[in-house]
Amino acid sequence: MPLMKLASETTAASAGSTRKEFRTCEPLPSLARFLANENHRIHLVGVAGSGMSGLAGLLIELGHVVSGSDKAATTETDRLQRLGLRFCDQHRPEHADTAELIVFSSAIKDNNPILLAARDSGKPLFRRAEAVAAIMQAKRGIVIAGMHGKTTTSAMTAHALRGGGLHPSHYVGAEIPILGTNAHWDPRGEYFVVEGDESDGTLRSFHPEHAVILNIEEEHLDFYADLAAIEKVFAQLIDQTSGTVLYNIDDANTARLCSKHKRAVSYGFSEQAHYRGVEVELRHFGSSFSVCRRAEKLGQAILNVPGEHNVHNALGVIALASELSIPFDRITTSLRKFEHARRRFEIKYASDRFLLVDDYAHHPTEIRATIGTAKSIGRRRLVTMFQPHRFSRTKTLCREFGSAFDDTNRVVITDVYPASETPISGISGRTIADEITRHGHRDVSYQPRLEWVHRDVGNMLESGDLVLSLGAGNIHEQLEILAADLVIAEKLKAIVGEEGEVRLYEPLSKHTTLRVGGPAQFWVEPRSEEAFAELIGLCRDEHLPLFAMGRGSNLLVRDGGIRGVVVHPRGGDFEKIELDGCEITAGAGVKLRQVAYAARAASLGGLEWMEGIPGAVGGALRMNAGAMGAQTFENVKRVRYLDADGNPHVKKRDELEVFYRRFPLLETNFAISATFRAQPAERAEIDSRLRESQEKRRTTQPIAKSAGCIFKNPESIPAGKLVDELGLKNSRVGNARVSQVHGNFIVNDGDATAAEILQLIDNIKSIARKKRGVELETEVEIVGESE
Ligand code: EPU
Repeated sequence: MPLMKLASETTAASAGSTRKEFRTCEPLPSLARFLANENHRIHLVGVAGSGMSGLAGLLIELGHVVSGSDKAATTETDRLQRLGLRFCDQHRPEHADTAELIVFSSAIKDNNPILLAARDSGKPLFRRAEAVAAIMQAKRGIVIAGMHGKTTTSAMTAHALRGGGLHPSHYVGAEIPILGTNAHWDPRGEYFVVEGDESDGTLRSFHPEHAVILNIEEEHLDFYADLAAIEKVFAQLIDQTSGTVLYNIDDANTARLCSKHKRAVSYGFSEQAHYRGVEVELRHFGSSFSVCRRAEKLGQAILNVPGEHNVHNALGVIALASELSIPFDRITTSLRKFEHARRRFEIKYASDRFLLVDDYAHHPTEIRATIGTAKSIGRRRLVTMFQPHRFSRTKTLCREFGSAFDDTNRVVITDVYPASETPISGISGRTIADEITRHGHRDVSYQPRLEWVHRDVGNMLESGDLVLSLGAGNIHEQLEILAADLVIAEKLKAIVGEEGEVRLYEPLSKHTTLRVGGPAQFWVEPRSEEAFAELIGLCRDEHLPLFAMGRGSNLLVRDGGIRGVVVHPRGGDFEKIELDGCEITAGAGVKLRQVAYAARAASLGGLEWMEGIPGAVGGALRMNAGAMGAQTFENVKRVRYLDADGNPHVKKRDELEVFYRRFPLLETNFAISATFRAQPAERAEIDSRLRESQEKRRTTQPIAKSAGCIFKNPESIPAGKLVDELGLKNSRVGNARVSQVHGNFIVNDGDATAAEILQLIDNIKSIARKKRGVELETEVEIVGESE
């Protein structure tokens, strides 16, 4: 049967809209018949969106041939393709050529090529809500509407009606594990539960039998001029509801608007409520409360989703289900089993030490409610990461956002998730971060790079923290990365025990003498050889790269940091020094300078040169470090190390292969300790050699942040002398500069990056090659990933 055509482009003046929109002629009732009782070819523009994918599912279940287009495929479009959706990851008019009707999402711009082509050819064009509203005509419609809690309440309603044996069909705006899918058509039942979307004025399309109104306040001010414009749309929906309007009496705007309806039934905590919640007890992940209908006590309900706002939502569901004659105990049996929709206080990770929760909250009221719920769980601290959603909301509700985070100990704000909006000049995540600070919060930071948010939050974690990710965009992905890494971090922690230390995303710039370097995915400080051995075993089993790092004095870590485990052997076994006659055994974490002074205390000489090396024993072994014409292995008697399986070995000097600034054994094994041999000497003689070393350092080397000598000395000429002769002293890339004092030192003048230092190294190498034919080789170890 032919359908009415698109009338014209008009402004949605009736809704007080500030945006131009496509409008259709009165679509009912022929569209209802077309969609619910016949089979056709239908194309959906923007099919990957949460609402559109649900509609696609419904239309497929109704027997239509459904095609759809979007910018990119998602797991939802993959699922729908398996059900029969013909999907295209571009908006091409030819893909919709054979469609008899086109449905489009509100996120689709007016100049979308499929919309333009459909308009030119006069093909019928409908908004998503208009299509859903038309399908509703085939059933007894129930619309759940309001600013906050719609998805949860719609899902709870469908679940309770299912439990009551009513076989409802449903259409909600998110994946609902307990319902199976976000939308489902059940031909056996009479009811169709629909989450109404108030964001674009299309609530006016619905003519339900019943409606549940949760709350009404200022929101979506990109579309509505003001609260009055929002209320107008709700008033029309209420007007068009033929049966009962169930409303939250505790919300003033809602009560004012709904109480006028001829069959209005209220719910809430107020004494005036028809269905009233009393004796509410909030628990960590749920609540219990009793319900009265007028003077009659119906009984107790238990919820396994947290927060007072969910008690409210459940009261709405109880009121509706009771009005549909489902017995109270059947309703409460369903409610007790109800689990959250995705991204609604969804627990992503839980242990005694940490709890990670994700929530979709993006409006200040929702944020306050979710933070309140999280706080009531009673963990030691609450750390929140928030991704603002839409520039328009960030701008209009900026003040409210400023006070929404009062109850969280630390906040990280990232940049705005634009949805379909173009940026507004001067509006960014910083706008909200500044407003929170202005409001008096002391622990707010702004991280414009979303992909770094998990690092910031992970690095601030302390045992007892609850971490919340909030927002309607993609910030949950950051929490998921954190959750996956915490699983590993907790295994590492179990190995190193209370005395050891495990930190996530530790900035290595804090642990290198050059003060550059990105984060270590897992920073681990074992205190014993056994713990180190177990770490090696775990890394092998989990296929995690493992890198041992000492004092970072001869290390250049790239700006992307080090993936995997960075072991920093410190304290405990690793800082022990033992003397036995002329032998000194020192753990891998002992500073070389300490070895020199321990020898001095025992009147042992020959190790004075170690005074001038800023590194620890492990690093000195690894590179056969040297100074004052001496080098490490001239004094080494034995080395104790762990192999790649974590087994300990001891090797004597003559069993070891050593080169100038290179000790291959430690490229695949891990130093535990070394025994050095010294000779008895006069204190005065030792002191004089120590002074000589100090004097040499003081007069020939810079005090600035550096990694010691950058290049190995070529046979033909000391690298420092070569750089000097080439006139490269003080040459720089950004904040990385060749020292004026010594040509083989690169110093970090401020916030130099590893990239700058590497560039400077390259410049020096190519000039040395070109001008002197010398191939310089770096002595400093370069590790990690570029950014
Ligand atoms: N020189 C210059 N200009 C300079 C730097 C050096 O002409 O800007 C000349 C010096 O006058 C000297 C020669 O080059 O004649 C060698 O310089 P230096 O005595 O400073 O020794 P080096 O070979 O540059 C080595 C170690 C240092 C150690 C010192 C002191 C290497 C690569 N470097 O430096 O070790 O502190 O001896 O004993 O072997 C390190 O490895 O990180 C390190 C700092």
